[in-house]
Amino acid sequence: MSLIDIIRSRYSCRSYQDKPVEEEKVAYLKECMQLAPSAVNRQPWKFRIVRSEKGRENLQTCYSRPWFNEAPLYIIASALHEQEWVRSDGKPHGDIDVAIAVEHLCLAATEQGLGSCWVCNFDAQRCHQLFEMPDTEEPVAIIPIGYSSLAETPQKTRKQQEEIFLEV
Ligand SMILES: Cc1cc2nc3c(=O)[nH]c(=O)nc-3n(C[C@H](O)[C@H](O)[C@H](O)COP(=O)(O)O)c2cc1C
Repeated sequence: MSLIDIIRSRYSCRSYQDKPVEEEKVAYLKECMQLAPSAVNRQPWKFRIVRSEKGRENLQTCYSRPWFNEAPLYIIASALHEQEWVRSDGKPHGDIDVAIAVEHLCLAATEQGLGSCWVCNFDAQRCHQLFEMPDTEEPVAIIPIGYSSLAETPQKTRKQQEEIFLEV
């Protein structure tokens, strides 16, 4: 698959088969996240792989959607704010760094025939508590991963290029 094909076929998957993700695929996804760039190469992140029964049950209380419960595996992507690079005007970059690693994950999952979905609308405080995160860590996104139940890639709705690109 070329990169553009992967980008075109990635979508937010909200329907999963009851089928585990193979260990080799998990290892591949981990490497794709590990190799993501970050500001000043700080790598201010931690990724929790959640697939035990107890872990899944706990995580499912942080985002109550029936489809979310279907996923066999989740990755909680956290920012380590003590390690992030902060620009001279005070702008912190940890969330940006985490987002890059997460999108590596989503594209790699697509390439491997897996569905994924960014989830940020979860109860972050509850997640922090249930997974016993230190104060310096903030869960930024949860990514459910698994085999999609959908037969076709949904249509994309995007702004026109004329609206988003400027020649300056
Ligand atoms: C930062 C971010 C947060 C998101 N949070 C959620 C979420 O909490 N729940 C959800 O169902 N989808 C979430 N999404 C998915 C978006 O709704 C989706 O990417 C967008 O509608 C475009 O659709 P597509 O991913 O299928 O191309 C999120 C996406 C991003 C990038």
